[in-house]
Amino acid sequence: MKILVTGGTGYIGSHTTLALLEAGYEVVVLDNLCNSSEAALHAVEAICAKSALLIRGDVCDRALLDRIFQEHAIDAVLHFAGLKAVGESVRKPLEYYQANVCGSITLCQAMAAAGVFRLVFSSSATVYGAPEHMPIREDFPTGTPTNPYGQSKLIIENVLHDLCAAQPRWSVALLRYFNPVGAHASGLMGEDPRGIPNNLVPYISQVAVGSLNELSIFGDDYPTVDGTGVRDYIHVVDLADGHLKALQTISGGSGINVWNLGTGDGYSVRQVVHAFEQASGRPVPYRVEPRRAGDIAECWADPSKAEQELGWTATRNLQEMMADTWRWQSSHPKGYLE
Ligand code: NAD
Ligand code: WQD
Repeated sequence: MKILVTGGTGYIGSHTTLALLEAGYEVVVLDNLCNSSEAALHAVEAICAKSALLIRGDVCDRALLDRIFQEHAIDAVLHFAGLKAVGESVRKPLEYYQANVCGSITLCQAMAAAGVFRLVFSSSATVYGAPEHMPIREDFPTGTPTNPYGQSKLIIENVLHDLCAAQPRWSVALLRYFNPVGAHASGLMGEDPRGIPNNLVPYISQVAVGSLNELSIFGDDYPTVDGTGVRDYIHVVDLADGHLKALQTISGGSGINVWNLGTGDGYSVRQVVHAFEQASGRPVPYRVEPRRAGDIAECWADPSKAEQELGWTATRNLQEMMADTWRWQSSHPKGYLE
C-alpha cells in the first residue's frame, strides 16, 4: 500500500513515516519544510534502510496535489501538515487558518477527485477546551478553543464530520493527541523546534544541554498534586504506532471515528522536571513564573476507546520518554544541523 504523508518531515510525521516503512508501506511525503528539515528523512533511511519519496510543496497547492495523486497510486493519506504554535497563531491567524483549514479542505478536494477516501487527521486534545472531569473521553463535548490554532483543529474536525455525513465513501480517523514527547530510541531522530521552544519537554532538554539558562514554570498554584500543571505525555513512537493501527482500522470501514491517543496518566511539570533530571543526570534549574494565559490545570486521556477499537495502548513510560529525549538532545544539541 502506498501512503501520502503530509508534513512527513516534521516531528510526528517523520516518526510515523519510519513506522510505515518498517511495516512495509510505501510512503510519499509532501512537506514545504517550513518547520522541518529533509535531514529527518535521512535519519529515517539510516534507521530502516528504506526511503520515502519527498515532494517539496504546499498542501494548499491543488495542482501539485492533483499531480501527486496522478503519478502515485495513493491508498490513504496521513495528514500532519500544518502550523502548530499556539502563541504564534494568535499573532498570525490568517496564516494558521490558511495552512490548517484551507490546506485540509484542498487536500480533501484533491483526494475526492482522485478517488482516495481514507484519511487520518492529526487533531489535538485542545479541542476539548477545559473539561470539568478527568480523564477525558471522546464523547466529552468539544470546548471553545481560546486561540486560532485550536479553532483551526475544531473547524477541520467539523468539516470532516460534515463530509463523512454527506458522502459515506469516506473513512476518516480524527486522532486527538495529548502531549507528544520523546524521540526514536536510536537517538537519530527527535523534535527539532525552530527558535525558543514553546513546549515543556523541548524547553527542559535545551536547559539540560546548556542552550537555555533556566526553565520558567508557568504557575505553581493550580489545584493539582504539587500546584503545577498536569498533562498526559505520550511517547512519539507510541503515537506513530497509533497511526498505523488507525490506518488499518479505517481501511476496512467507512464514516468518521474519533480516538484519543494518550497514556491515561497525568504528570505535573515538577514531576517531568524530576524525571528529566534523573534520565539525563543534569540539573534543570527553574524559576516559578505566573500562569501562562490559556493554560488549564490538568488534562489527561481516557485511552480505552483506542485500546478496544484499535488494539492500541501506549507502552513507553515517562522515564523512557525523558531518556529518549535526552539521547537525541545530547547527541544533537542543535537538532538536525549537527
Ligand atoms: P511539525 O511542525 O514538526 O510538523 C508539521 C510539518 O508540516 C512540518 O514538517 C512543516 O514543515 C509542515 N507544513 C506546515 N505547513 C505546511 C504546508 N502548508 N504545506 C506542507 N507542509 C506544511 O509538527 P508536529 O509536532 O509533527 O505536528 C504534526 C501535526 O500534529 C500537526 O498538524 C499538529 O497540529 C498536530 N499536533 C501536534 C501536537 C504536538 O504537541 N506536537 C499535538 C497535537 C496535534
Ligand atoms: C505543558 C505544561 C505548561 C512550557 C500544547 C498545545 C496543545 C498541543 C500540545 C498541539 C503546562 C507548562 C510549559 C514552559 C511550563 N499542541 N510549561 N514552562 O500547553 O499542554 O499543550 O502542546 O496541538 O494544543 O496547547 O503543552 O508543553 O506547552 O505545556 O511550565 O516553558 O508545562 O504551563 O502546564 P500544552 P506545553
